[in-house]
Amino acid sequence: MKTVFVASTTLLLAASPVLADAVPWAESNVGHSLSFAEAVALSKSDLQKLIDRGRDLFAAKFTIEDGGGRPKATQAIVPTKRKRGENAAFQRTGGPDANSCAGCHNDPIPGAAGDFVANVFVSEGFESADFDSIDAQFSNERNTNTITGDGLVELLSREMTAELRAERSQALKQAREAKQDVTVKLASKGVSYGSLTAKPDGVVDVSKLEGVDTDLVVRPFSQKGVFTSLRQFTVNAMNQHHGIQPVERFGVRWTGSRDFDEDKKPDEMDEGDISAITLWQATLSPPTVRTDVPDNWKTAAAAGQKAFTDFACTSCHMPTLPLKSLSFTDPGPDDAAGTLRAADVKEPIAVDLGQRPWAKLLKRNDKGEWLVPLFGDLKRHVIVDEGVAELGNEIMGQRFVERDVFMTAELWGVGSTAPYGHRGDFSTLDGVIRAHGGEGRQARDAYVQADDTTRSNIIAFLKTLVIAK
Ligand code: HEC
Ligand code: HEC
Repeated sequence: MKTVFVASTTLLLAASPVLADAVPWAESNVGHSLSFAEAVALSKSDLQKLIDRGRDLFAAKFTIEDGGGRPKATQAIVPTKRKRGENAAFQRTGGPDANSCAGCHNDPIPGAAGDFVANVFVSEGFESADFDSIDAQFSNERNTNTITGDGLVELLSREMTAELRAERSQALKQAREAKQDVTVKLASKGVSYGSLTAKPDGVVDVSKLEGVDTDLVVRPFSQKGVFTSLRQFTVNAMNQHHGIQPVERFGVRWTGSRDFDEDKKPDEMDEGDISAITLWQATLSPPTVRTDVPDNWKTAAAAGQKAFTDFACTSCHMPTLPLKSLSFTDPGPDDAAGTLRAADVKEPIAVDLGQRPWAKLLKRNDKGEWLVPLFGDLKRHVIVDEGVAELGNEIMGQRFVERDVFMTAELWGVGSTAPYGHRGDFSTLDGVIRAHGGEGRQARDAYVQADDTTRSNIIAFLKTLVIAK
């Protein structure tokens, strides 16, 4: 076995850009898809090669030779057969809707955000992919957000999940011992998630939770805040956008089939390749702060950051969250069935984000924790009210989250990611700030009532938060 692996790795490394065991002009990008064992071995012999393969797969324009397209499968997250007929090769609103991940995530660099033209129609699409796909009753239109910095975001969310769960266990223990209800406030890293009440018989009342799911898993991804990990998102996206079925969800284990979408390409993307793409995304440089600006901009931005704090924009857009460990392990601890989990493998692949060149820029607090400058809180909030309702434009709920509730957008990089708002409805920062209702209403009103200079200063500050090209 070992020799076979070495041989295929050698070819993988020699070929350009991602071809494994084919001639360089073959119309397949994936070639031999890496198993998890092969990815583990490659991570030990040459980690950067594994990450580079992830980059190449993210940019690859998938073909039918790669297993692109899904004639008989829908875009639904849970493997679902199309009942009648076949999907078209491409369908802009119902998918497969793009050639590559980078077809949407490319502004200003691969892995970042997208123009309005790259919007996605997010729906479960159980029946047929193009069935009423732009009708708001059946799908929510979303703008492409940036993945830069998401490795750190996922690590934060894992630590927060572990802390919230420890708080729940502690409350249950106290309730059992004291034989009476125990109510605890749930909080992690300075973010409050409401409270829960533990009962002596082990039942937990979760009706007072805020901004997090009842299983206490902090789900930082998508603008709705409903997906757990880069890995889970990648598995979903491969099927939805490209009709590439990852083995870990669409393969024999869960569907009994090696060719669920019936395109005659078995086992389209193996676990090791999903690791490669996940790790490339996790190691992307996080957004930075522009310093190459004229003095008047610097002065305005400094005043703007102060107003941003004074108006309590920072109550949701928290300037930093502290992170204990920079070790990114894949697969992660909190995924559900259908995404490879830490428990499914002998040992996960561990990547020390502290070794990435960008890590030196992270500041540390007196406890030695890294301060992740995300301007977010990894929490969902009501962002709509009767008076200010522009962001309340979705009719369909998603994963049991109310329609007017969204995850606080992380503002690092926001100077590079127009248009704004979850659907990309706003061409200016001023527009999306004015659209904050609900829990954001007070801060928004302070902004609207401020003088022109103060508002302009806030924009000056936000425009220094960029994704380096
Ligand atoms: C057709 C455009 C499009 C394509 C192609 C696409 N994405 Fe996305 N991506 C989006 C949109 C839109 C969102 C935001 C979804 C939401 O908020 O519901 C998103 C969100 C994400 C996120 C979550 C980021 C965050 O911080 O919330 C990840 C991770 C991601 N995409 C990875 C991928 C990968 C990997 C691929 C290729 C397999 C891919 N995407 C292909 C449009 C696209
Ligand atoms: C109650 C929490 C909360 C407060 C307070 C808040 N925001 Fe937000 N902010 C959000 C949420 C949630 C979103 C995502 C809205 C959406 O697109 O659905 C958001 C989105 C944004 C965006 C758009 C980001 C993007 O990429 O599209 C900007 C800019 C922004 N906020 C700035 C501000 C400013 C400036 C203030 C203070 C005046 C502020 N916010 C106060 C929660 C908050």
